Amino acid sequence: MTSGPLPKTQAKKRILSGVKPTGKAHIGNYLGAMKNHVAMQNEYESFIFIADLHSLTSVKNKKELQDLIVDLALDYLALGINPDKTVFFRQSDVPEHAELTWVLNCLTPMSMLELAHAYKDAVTRGTKDINVGLFDYPVLMAVDILIYKPDLVPVGKDQKQHVEIARDLAGKFNRIYGEVFRLPKPYITEEVAVVIGTDGQKMSKSYCNTIEIFAPEKELKKQVMGIVTDSTPLEEPKDPDKDTVYKLYTYFANEGEKKALAEKYRAGGFGYGDGKKLLLQKILDELTPYRMEREKLINNLDYVHEVLKKGAEKAKIVASATKAEVWSVTGLKL
Ligand code: TRP
Repeated sequence: MTSGPLPKTQAKKRILSGVKPTGKAHIGNYLGAMKNHVAMQNEYESFIFIADLHSLTSVKNKKELQDLIVDLALDYLALGINPDKTVFFRQSDVPEHAELTWVLNCLTPMSMLELAHAYKDAVTRGTKDINVGLFDYPVLMAVDILIYKPDLVPVGKDQKQHVEIARDLAGKFNRIYGEVFRLPKPYITEEVAVVIGTDGQKMSKSYCNTIEIFAPEKELKKQVMGIVTDSTPLEEPKDPDKDTVYKLYTYFANEGEKKALAEKYRAGGFGYGDGKKLLLQKILDELTPYRMEREKLINNLDYVHEVLKKGAEKAKIVASATKAEVWSVTGLKL
């Protein structure tokens, strides 16, 4: 494996990840990505950004986009992203992302993007607005990654292909122009790589099967109580491994708690409604501190904007250095 030059001061390994603001954060986002990002900031030099340019492929309303961006910033800060430990910023505040995307576009084969699943899925679903931005999404994402030369890219399993595309493009660029980029590695936490939704499919906003981590308590309860189960009567024994409520419970419970609940299922006389109540309590136990923190932050939006601004300044130091290298080797700099 090759790796490009890195700033000499870098002692810790560097991670980078982005999240696209497209809707209310749910348990899938939380367990699959956000929680990890927060935990990793203690061990790694970390870059986390709000991928707002990516949202433009689907969000076409000014107020909606602005709200989504601020919501996501609030979510991350409430969950514990610490701006002293993480360079936390907004993609569009660092124009080098868009600039380098053009350069990489010019060496990306169309055929590679035709195989990318975000685009393929949109075709399969018969999506009307398949714009060039959606088609080009993996290239922008590749730049997001490559520009910061991270060691690891913590992402959900669904993003693995995109990181591989980034790796291929980095290799291709380096072969043509000389070593500039390091080849990134995806970092996937297997056990929560795919979080199950309330209907048993993968949890996703587009399937309307989410449990939103910052929804008002009443709404959260409604989402948990709405989990689809089979119709085994209350008295009868149940198989925990076939049940969505149990599966969701395992994401939050420790070994002892998981075993205890599985036994209740198998013993009979315990209904899915009882399971849902336990699950709701577990979710609240874990999330209440973050939910309270978010309430505080909502009343301090100036602080949130300030954090993003400072983060962008730090990100730009790295991004502009990479841009200078790219401009130099490609001939754009005279
Ligand atoms: N595509 C990612 C998602 O949908 C978001 C993203 C954009 C990203 N750029 C990135 C993730 C770079 C990791 C690295 O969630």
